[in-house]
Amino acid sequence: MMDRKKFVKTLGICVVGIPLASQVLQSCSSIYYADTLEKGGKIIVEKSEFINDKNKERKYVLVTPQDTDFPISLYKIEEDNYVASLLKCTHRGCELNVGGNIYSCPCHGSEFTTTGEVLEGPAEEQLKTFKTTTDDQNIYIYLN
Ligand code: FES
Repeated sequence: MMDRKKFVKTLGICVVGIPLASQVLQSCSSIYYADTLEKGGKIIVEKSEFINDKNKERKYVLVTPQDTDFPISLYKIEEDNYVASLLKCTHRGCELNVGGNIYSCPCHGSEFTTTGEVLEGPAEEQLKTFKTTTDDQNIYIYLN
């Protein structure tokens, strides 16, 4: 097995001196904050936000609601099926990191799936998720 030093070295430019492997992955993945419109209690995200400038598909984008301290991760499961999860750990409320297809907590190590289920404690409750709908052009996240 590769030791941590070698692992970090192999990744080279991605990270220097960050202690956890999950954070290494996060540093390498592309975190993208989508342009959104918020009105009437819902956030509108254009589906085109899921295509990057190299014409590749993003699996998720981050969205920042006006009245919340925490971002929402909008994860694409498949065409017209998205999960919007609040990136607030259900253990003691730290903001979660996104990377390696999981959400991980930097405070005490809880991990969640991209649909909000607990993978690893100490958190016991799944993440808060929001209802989503879609039409031809947009994804709608209902905040209430
Ligand atoms: S606050 Fe996230 S694991 Fe404790």
